[in-house]
Amino acid sequence: MTLDLKIDNPDPSHRPDDLAQGVLGTETDRPDGWAKVAGSATYAAEETVGDLLHGVLVRAPGIGAVTCPNLSDVRAMPGVRAVLRDDRLIRNAAQGMADEAPVQGADAADYVGQPIALVVAESFEQARHAAQVLDVVIQTKDAPTDPSAVDPEVPDDKQSAMGDLDAAMAEAAVTVDAIYTTPSMSSAAMEPHAATAQWDGDTLTLRGSLQMLKFNRNELADSIGLPPEKVRIMAPFVGGGFGSKLGISADCVAAALAAMELGQPVRVVQHRRNVFEVNTRRSETRQHIRLAADADGRLTGLGHDALVSNLPEERFSEPVVQGSHFAYAAANRKLGVQIARIHRPASGSVRAPGESVGVTAFELAMDELADKAGIDPVELRLRNIPEKDPESGKPFSSHRLKEALTQGAEAFGWSARTAAPRQRKEGEWWIGTGMAAAFRVNMVIEAEARISLRQDGAVVRSDMTDIGTGSYAIFGQIAGELLGLSPDRVSVELGDTDYPPGSGSGGSFGAASTGTAVWLAGMEIRRQLAERLGCDETELTLKDGLAIFSNRRVPLEELLCDGPIDGHGHVQPGDASEKVRQATFGAHFAEVAVNGVTGEVRVRRMLGSFAAGRILNPRTARSQCHGGMIWGIGMALTEELTHDRRDGHAVNRDLAGYHLPVNADVPPLDVLFVEERDDWAGPMQAKGIGELGICGAGAAILNAVYNASGARVRDLPATPDRVIATLPD
Ligand code: MOS
Repeated sequence: MTLDLKIDNPDPSHRPDDLAQGVLGTETDRPDGWAKVAGSATYAAEETVGDLLHGVLVRAPGIGAVTCPNLSDVRAMPGVRAVLRDDRLIRNAAQGMADEAPVQGADAADYVGQPIALVVAESFEQARHAAQVLDVVIQTKDAPTDPSAVDPEVPDDKQSAMGDLDAAMAEAAVTVDAIYTTPSMSSAAMEPHAATAQWDGDTLTLRGSLQMLKFNRNELADSIGLPPEKVRIMAPFVGGGFGSKLGISADCVAAALAAMELGQPVRVVQHRRNVFEVNTRRSETRQHIRLAADADGRLTGLGHDALVSNLPEERFSEPVVQGSHFAYAAANRKLGVQIARIHRPASGSVRAPGESVGVTAFELAMDELADKAGIDPVELRLRNIPEKDPESGKPFSSHRLKEALTQGAEAFGWSARTAAPRQRKEGEWWIGTGMAAAFRVNMVIEAEARISLRQDGAVVRSDMTDIGTGSYAIFGQIAGELLGLSPDRVSVELGDTDYPPGSGSGGSFGAASTGTAVWLAGMEIRRQLAERLGCDETELTLKDGLAIFSNRRVPLEELLCDGPIDGHGHVQPGDASEKVRQATFGAHFAEVAVNGVTGEVRVRRMLGSFAAGRILNPRTARSQCHGGMIWGIGMALTEELTHDRRDGHAVNRDLAGYHLPVNADVPPLDVLFVEERDDWAGPMQAKGIGELGICGAGAAILNAVYNASGARVRDLPATPDRVIATLPD
């Protein structure tokens, strides 16, 4: 039996009265933790399969038409079973929530590094060697690779304006008008994209490293020309995704095509270089930000215009101004995104697409405004919190920015700060603090899950993935909470398209969307239990494995001796988003030391304060926030995917050259959660937290760099050369 829910009002009817098991909202261990630490959790490339063939992707060394003159020689090399130059090979990973094949074809390369062939051999070494021997000849075509050198597209649906921003700027007591830039960035997940494909009867079964299986199945089916029912995808463990595994990837399609052609299992693992070149990057951005304020720092005008890039034909564009639509009140507004069509590797969603770079640049500008207006940066934000959505006029579903700012400031010790820069020095190091607000849209998407309640406990199933986020832990908690079972009596099975289709992991919607489906499945089981007991559902309390009602206590085992009870949950977004504006809010605080001689920046401590509805598991939620804040350190100081000026190729395409923060770069990070329940988020009252922690985090660090040293860096990352160049004498 299925319990369906469309979320279109803050109706509490699917929330039981006995929500007090102490299972949900507590710090349970991850059930998958031991398997991961012990190495017994198998990732896509570790799957043991008999008769396995190995495929190696061949990359284009240039841009233009591709030919391989020695193709037949390579096909005859020892151990080589096939060289696919199939027009079904894909150019890029699909984008998130696509259902169709991404752009395909191996005849022409649109960017350096594009996969143009797959060499399949009996051993990995034979395949790699043959791939190196394969001659790839490019008829080089003239292709722009610099976003500032082309006329960008100005899509109408990405421009908006209210009032008269130019007039507001002219009349304002205080203004900021500045350009900020952020470079290309890579998801750089630890686990490389990898796939093992095999025929299982007439079904193509793929073990992959993917975030959103129900979409990935359709994308793969469309790519290889099979109906979706003939495709099964499994991804029980995924070593990070951050957007780069939202859509089907080149390794998956290539492995599937080879397995179909050869009738044998084929594994394709992306080389780290492929990982950086073939999977989507976060677009570089150039952001023109204008702020107009009265003498009290109240915004009268706000402008945010961004230039981003992508390959021709790609639909995605980095939604840089997404957060600026609802962050602050201002009567006169102009926001827009323009897209340069260039031949760098495709851009796509990377952790918190839009707000991660958009809020970061905007919060740098807000700090400049606070400085010019002589207003404390926390106070400036407090003065500009909108009463309702500034553009649509809709109410917010819940809005705890004020609490995030004030509680965060208190916990950080913000009041001890000196507003003027360059006031504290320890040897060569200038010390200072900075802050920024955090904003992120919240979404619910369609999801299904099933719970089977048996005498020995409950089993939760969905094709939802756990990409390191904690899905296994929190779904066990949700089922345990609703059914009155401790989490160790609930097992959670995820990452298999044979299970009900969940939301997948993306856009911070996974826990709340699929979690709500698990919740509804639990509610459906409660209904059936009440029916078996002949009592009213509202009188029933489930606790410690007992069904309790009108002074009776019946062990669940007894109730289930006639067989298990299955409950199926199905949640869909209703029209809630038409009635309310829903988002998550937060505040970042950072203390840094800036070396006045070398320009080196060390982050000394950070605190993030976040409001995201009910926190389902503070440990996994905090871990997500830590991850986001660490990415903020990278965005502020180290991360940059550099493109060669001649052909746009990704130069630093490995983890040695692409500088993610490592342990030595990460100081103690504090996370606090602001108490919040959002009734518009569904019966769980929980919103997404995964991406909130990165939004604005880098700005808090760079604002602290200014407070410490007086250096205003507007081009990220703030590497020592840039800090030195902007340091006052
Ligand atoms: Mo996310 S960038 O939707 O994985």
